[in-house]
Amino acid sequence: MVSFIDKVLLKLATSSLNSGVLLLVLTSMPAIAAEWQLLANDGLHDPNNAGLKWLQNPGNALSRLPADSAGNKVDWIRAFEDGYINPRSGLNNKKPVKILDSEILLNNTGSLPRVLFPHRQHTMWLDCSNCHEKIFKSKAGATPITMTKILEGKYCGVCHGAVSFPLTECNRCHSVPWDNTADKKPIAHIP
Ligand code: HEC
Ligand code: HEC
Ligand code: HEC
Repeated sequence: MVSFIDKVLLKLATSSLNSGVLLLVLTSMPAIAAEWQLLANDGLHDPNNAGLKWLQNPGNALSRLPADSAGNKVDWIRAFEDGYINPRSGLNNKKPVKILDSEILLNNTGSLPRVLFPHRQHTMWLDCSNCHEKIFKSKAGATPITMTKILEGKYCGVCHGAVSFPLTECNRCHSVPWDNTADKKPIAHIP
């Protein structure tokens, strides 16, 4: 298992897509006061463009939201639940957001804690069609998810490490120890 984890971390460190993320996590961990890069220093915006001053810097907006230690340093679930933000189901429609409150326990995790996938925290922002049936089958245990595929940007890795919290946060997904399921009633993923 240790060597698998080493392999995972090595892969994270060497993949060009994720190295920035890993760096962000490592450098952000000791820092309690979160810091965001100015647009002028982000390597994407032209620092000499006179229009730059009209754009809001990320820190100005994000520092007002509940803090997190990883990714873009915002705890988006808390931001939603505490009413800081109120996402819509579409640009122009007023259809209410459709929330599905079910959990799936994915248990092909070797000796690591199992993965609890919560539909609620995902359907707060995402439509069913964002995941079904292209990324995941809507049948527990039907999708052949593995950590290697996730690290390659498939399955959970389509979003985690890209637009949602990074893959270095193992225990946010691997959150259910093997001896502690009696209190939840998830649908088990049968290997
Ligand atoms: C975004 C969620 C997520 C994160 C973050 C995550 N994992 Fe996983 N991991 C999964 C899922 C989902 C599976 C597959 C479970 C299944 O199919 O039953 C898995 C499976 C595994 C397995 C089982 C073997 C295999 O090849 O699938 C190992 C070992 C593992 N992960 C290690 C890690 C380590 C180490 C980290 C942190 C560096 C990590 N995981 C971070 C979701 C995650
Ligand atoms: C972020 C991705 C994501 C979104 C969005 C999502 N699902 Fe799922 N869904 C999953 C995953 C992952 C599984 C487990 C697949 C597996 O085990 O192979 C699953 C499983 C299911 C299942 C089978 C297990 C069960 O609970 O019976 C159903 C039904 C389902 N989803 C319906 C929905 C519906 C309806 C919506 C929209 C309201 C939705 N899902 C939104 C990822 C998602
Ligand atoms: C289509 C995009 C997408 C996919 C695919 C996806 N997620 Fe997420 N996930 C999100 C977003 C967006 C959030 C909320 C923002 C954040 O926490 O980064 C989230 C949040 C979570 C949370 C945090 C819940 C909380 O209460 O803090 C967990 C756990 C999680 N995802 C696990 C998974 C696992 C496991 C998979 C694969 C089986 C997966 N996700 C696939 C987009 C996705």
